[in-house]
Amino acid sequence: MGKIIAIANQKGGVGKTTTAINLGGCFGVLEYKTLIVDADPQANATSGVGLDPKNTKNIYDCLINGTHPNDLIIHTQNPNLDILPSHIDLVGAEMEMIDLPNREYMLKAALDKIKDNYDFIIIDCSPSLGLITVNALTAADSVMIPVQCEYFALEGLGKLLNTIKIIQTRLNQNLEIEGIVLTMYDTRLRLANQVVDEVKTHFQELVFDTVIHRNTKLGEAPSFGETIIMHDASSKGSINYLNFAREILQKNDVTKIDNDNKKIELDNEL
Ligand SMILES: Nc1ncnc2c1ncn2[C@@H]1O[C@H](COP(=O)(O)OP(=O)(O)OP(=O)(O)O)[C@@H](O)[C@H]1O
Ligand SMILES: [Mg+2]
Repeated sequence: MGKIIAIANQKGGVGKTTTAINLGGCFGVLEYKTLIVDADPQANATSGVGLDPKNTKNIYDCLINGTHPNDLIIHTQNPNLDILPSHIDLVGAEMEMIDLPNREYMLKAALDKIKDNYDFIIIDCSPSLGLITVNALTAADSVMIPVQCEYFALEGLGKLLNTIKIIQTRLNQNLEIEGIVLTMYDTRLRLANQVVDEVKTHFQELVFDTVIHRNTKLGEAPSFGETIIMHDASSKGSINYLNFAREILQKNDVTKIDNDNKKIELDNEL
């Protein structure tokens, strides 16, 4: 049975999509069958793995029309990595769902049908705490929170944690916090270290050891429709996300394969 991890933070541009597609890409290469669910009308994860959101069937159909997700899921060029694409139409889905009695459980109902087919299902949420994100958190086993190493990094985190608490109380008592991952760390900025210290002081063991560095290859890979490990396996971004995938596997006590499960050291790794 696959583990469903929602990647959420209502703050925009913190690395949710970059984390969803590259973590998915690394799980895939490590031979864990993985599905990315693009739950953001911006459809950045969809285009980031090389699909044109205009030309693909998408998540809207399974939420609103009850289409089986298997009829919408597309294999990517990355081994073991599938995607349930998104489309700008998803903006309208929230309005259409609002009066339905099971409105918070529609994504869960869809993912329950395919959960057994995957080791991991990663949901890329939009920068909002609207109904689709509530659906993602209701469907998920855990939530991963990317935090960018910049000014106001902690801004809005209280609200997010409060929303998670409400979901745990009312909609999904099994929802856990997978952890906080620090993103876009820039070794040249003293501020970045201050943010790392601040986040670790506040959230302690919730913070992953692996820190994702700022790396231009991570920014350019989506324009090639490739995850970082396919685009440039030796780049710092690829090594960071591979280490991150392995840290999650260890944390979850997943021991399927990966004999070479050693952390790859970087000169300037934290
Ligand atoms: N580690 C990184 N190094 C360099 N660029 C990065 C890194 N992480 C993300 N970016 C770039 O920063 C921008 C925002 O990242 P991303 O789209 O992943 O954030 P997001 O949280 O999904 O945004 P949104 O809230 O709009 O969905 C993108 O242009 C992405 O390519
Ligand atoms: Mg995004």
